[in-house]
Amino acid sequence: MKVLVSGGAGYIGSHTVRELKNSGYDVVVLDTLELGHAEAVAGTRLIKGSITDAALVEEVFMEEKPQAVMDFAAYKAAGESVGNPLKYFHNNVGGPVNLLEAMVRHEVPYYIFSSSCSVFGTPHNLPASETNNPFGPESPYGESKLTVEKMLGWVDKAYNLRYAALRYFNAAGASLDGTIGEDWTHTYNLVPLVLKAALGLTPSVKVFGTDYPTPDGSAVRDYIHVVDLAQAHVKALEYLMRTNTSNAFNLGTGQGSSVKEVIDTAIRVSQRDIQVELVGRRPGDPAAIWADASKAERELGWKAQYDLETIIQTAWNWHSQHPHGFDQE
Ligand SMILES: NC(=O)c1ccc[n+]([C@@H]2O[C@H](COP(=O)([O-])OP(=O)(O)OC[C@H]3O[C@@H](n4cnc5c(N)ncnc54)[C@H](O)[C@@H]3O)[C@@H](O)[C@H]2O)c1
Repeated sequence: MKVLVSGGAGYIGSHTVRELKNSGYDVVVLDTLELGHAEAVAGTRLIKGSITDAALVEEVFMEEKPQAVMDFAAYKAAGESVGNPLKYFHNNVGGPVNLLEAMVRHEVPYYIFSSSCSVFGTPHNLPASETNNPFGPESPYGESKLTVEKMLGWVDKAYNLRYAALRYFNAAGASLDGTIGEDWTHTYNLVPLVLKAALGLTPSVKVFGTDYPTPDGSAVRDYIHVVDLAQAHVKALEYLMRTNTSNAFNLGTGQGSSVKEVIDTAIRVSQRDIQVELVGRRPGDPAAIWADASKAERELGWKAQYDLETIIQTAWNWHSQHPHGFDQE
């Protein structure tokens, strides 16, 4: 079975490409390479181009004849999206529209979508399940993800196209063999920022907010290993084939870790000193969010295996051996 993986040369996509191939799937990647890297999917068929290019998408479907689509292609900087919402809606909603139109034309039945816990905004009930918080995105980025999720509901009804919306919490870590990982040139994520400071590539790491109502005052997030996320995609595809039912799942570990815990773990794993700068809260940052991932466990047969220590250890292996990422080695 052939799977088209859009955005497959990016961070989570490239790890998923590996899992798909390990599970016996044939894979073709479509990626602009704007934020992704050909080296991350070496040995896999890669087409360079955008899902916003409807003519190219049609060509890819004609030639490659995929039987399922996993769509990672999107911009993900929530802060940037506030100042430039149309960039986000154009890519993150317009792209999926093109893919789904092609899927309908070519009768491709399964679509797996990279959604995000940001569809909930600041959750009032923790752990956040699929149903115990209203949707309330607090950025155009989160809104773009929710818009696609809503669109998928209508697409399912109209065209019998089945989808899984996978709402990732905070993806982190790198492949267990240390050969692929996150590109930290563009990242705003905590783990790479902490490790940059550990390697002395930045003078310090900022802790935004030390007076949250959390055990140590710093913000709490659910860090989920990228390999766990990648495996969830394979399970989600199997689920769609088995049940022929669309669904949405929260993907996290079910455990929150504070910013300070992440830094302490990074100090222990890297055996480096990390300079910390305590600064004020950032507007729009929830105090705490972590997932209730029991629905994914029940229905997908998936459960995160890797803990924070493994996340930091694998990220450290990757970043310390590839401080300049894929391109400038
Ligand atoms: N990283 C996280 O913590 C996180 C959390 C929740 C959701 N997500 C979502 O998961 C997906 C993957 O995230 P990631 O962390 O791997 O990001 P990433 O930036 O590493 O990967 C995205 C990839 O998509 C490509 N791309 C972007 N627009 C494209 C387009 N129009 N056509 C083709 N390719 C395009 C980029 O070049 C890049 O390779 C995104 O949809 C993101 O919104 C990520």
